[in-house]
Amino acid sequence: MSVTVRVPAKVNVQLAVGGARPDGFHDLANVFLAVGLYDEVTATPADELRITCSGPGADQVPLDRTNLAARAALALAERHGLSAADAGVHLHIDKDIPVAGGMAGGSADAAGALLACDALWGTRASRQELLDICAELGSDVPFSLVGGAALGTGRGERLRPLDVGGDFHWVFAVADGGLSTPAVYREFDRLHEGTEVPEPVASEELLAALAKGDADALAATLTNDLQPAALSLFPSLADTLAAGRAAGALAALVSGSGPTTAFLARDAESAQVVAGALLASGSCRAARVADSPAPGATVIRRAA
Ligand code: C5P
Repeated sequence: MSVTVRVPAKVNVQLAVGGARPDGFHDLANVFLAVGLYDEVTATPADELRITCSGPGADQVPLDRTNLAARAALALAERHGLSAADAGVHLHIDKDIPVAGGMAGGSADAAGALLACDALWGTRASRQELLDICAELGSDVPFSLVGGAALGTGRGERLRPLDVGGDFHWVFAVADGGLSTPAVYREFDRLHEGTEVPEPVASEELLAALAKGDADALAATLTNDLQPAALSLFPSLADTLAAGRAAGALAALVSGSGPTTAFLARDAESAQVVAGALLASGSCRAARVADSPAPGATVIRRAA
């Protein structure tokens, strides 16, 4: 018996960041859009918790209990009082989402593991319970479960679903190297030292552009408050952004905390052109084309 769950990556079309809170987190107005790049998590019964990983960047994924997917399985087992024997599981993660790229790959694996273990173990957790566990695991994990588009407030974990009126075409440039999310938030704090950081607020223009499916209007409103911090730690990303703009992208921005960069294209054809130009520029390791919105974590296979 095994269960396979497919989970999407995300891009933040708006990431408005407030000042550091007493708990070290930052209040956000975080407009998430799920994109069609997916990791697959397969859960199979085993004597104990075991993680394996395949795909690009798999060597950078921890295989111990620090892996968010492992923590998701343990959290579900604990809540349902499963013994270690009953909660033994082999989680295999087949990665396609860039690792440590600011596209919520780790969060996707956590949401995938949670849904896969719930199906494998028959724990039948309610949607709300799954969302609560996701929120404990990380700020971006609830969105990986629900997919589509949503406004995340608080530290990003409180979600309001958003309407999306059409498909958007993206190119993602995978950088050579990674950026740690806490390091980018620390750099954000350093860059804002001594200044009053305004309350993060979702842009009404951006939400309207999403609802209309209007790529030009969306391009005009994309923002990421973490971008200066990511560029400060990884200055060559500016070259990647410039290469994508020169190739005809409607807009270019750092994805989340980076270092993946995201390019909004007019249509699928233009996305291919931008991807080719980004690769040819030598300013990124890989360029991936993906459409949005994409569905959240979904069981795609059950094998006897
Ligand atoms: O919640 P998550 O584990 O994904 O967050 C990773 C790190 O990113 C946190 O430890 C924190 O440094 C930073 N973060 C933040 N404010 C948020 C979300 C994340 O400062 N709203």
